[in-house]
Amino acid sequence: MAAADKKASIADALDEQYYQINLDILESFSKYRPPLNLYRFKEDVARVLPYCKAGERLSNEQVEQLATMVDEGFVFVSRADHPVYVKHISFQLDLVLVDKNLHETEIADIFTQALTRRLGEFFTQPVPMVFAKLWTDMMVLTEYLYHDPNRIRALSRRLHQEHNLANHSFNCGVMGLAVHIKAHSKQYEAGDVKRKYLDHLTAGLFLHDLGMSKIPAFMLEKDKPLTGEDRGKVQRHTQLGYEMLAKLDLRFPEVEECVTDHHERLNGSGYPQKKQAQALGPLGRLCALVDSYCAMTVKRPFAPAMEPGKAAAQLAQDAGYDPEFSRILQALVMLQSKPK
Ligand SMILES: [Fe+2]
Ligand SMILES: [Fe+2]
Repeated sequence: MAAADKKASIADALDEQYYQINLDILESFSKYRPPLNLYRFKEDVARVLPYCKAGERLSNEQVEQLATMVDEGFVFVSRADHPVYVKHISFQLDLVLVDKNLHETEIADIFTQALTRRLGEFFTQPVPMVFAKLWTDMMVLTEYLYHDPNRIRALSRRLHQEHNLANHSFNCGVMGLAVHIKAHSKQYEAGDVKRKYLDHLTAGLFLHDLGMSKIPAFMLEKDKPLTGEDRGKVQRHTQLGYEMLAKLDLRFPEVEECVTDHHERLNGSGYPQKKQAQALGPLGRLCALVDSYCAMTVKRPFAPAMEPGKAAAQLAQDAGYDPEFSRILQALVMLQSKPK
């Protein structure tokens, strides 16, 4: 059997229990103290045996030996260590693009963890340096989706249930992408969607509420819907967000549209400008729909979580939202409610 075939058959046989790791992954570990239990495939006994324990100090010889074995495809980590592995990769998200051994659902876990953490860091400290890391990770996601847009499905099954700004932003990003991809599936199949467009709309969906990071937390945690003056202050978040984009030098129309228009409604009942349908573009409409859906379906301080099917049906009957996007959202939610 050729060496490459042998490696492939070993990997297939072990796939269920172990991740085979490659040099990129090995190099992402602390060199002398790998953060996970490592296993080696021993050819003479045709079995996977423990090689070193998580955090154990390796000698120089072991470090060299390990690199050679990894190169030969003989080193594995256990899928039982999935949570530790997911966390490790989530800090260097671009590794998901080179790791051929992770399942789609495992990659979805990693994206969920990485993007939610980056969003949280950025909302706590909305400065260019922190934003750069979030941007890098969002672009890893678009690279991943651009190769196969259907990969969004596994992500859309991982929406957060707890309400906070980072979770909400992640949920809206993922649901917005799911609806967008479904609405443009033919264009994606034909290769007619530009990568830059996907990049910018992704950023717009994840960042639509960035202005909320300037609103004091106590105002958002009140257990009643806001009224009067407080409501006016919170409603300023679209304008605040727009101003933040300028400071971040993020001047893409797709991002601006999501930030400024996600509370506008087709029938003119939204804010801040009470725009009418003809003044609202596709991304503002899309973001408005998923923003409402993601808000309705999690428990908030003043409202219980609504069942996804009910929320989607309610939005589909609301003249404030784009009927085509609402129809697609309803179909997606129905699919999700079926067993995997
Ligand atoms: Fe908002
Ligand atoms: Fe929102």
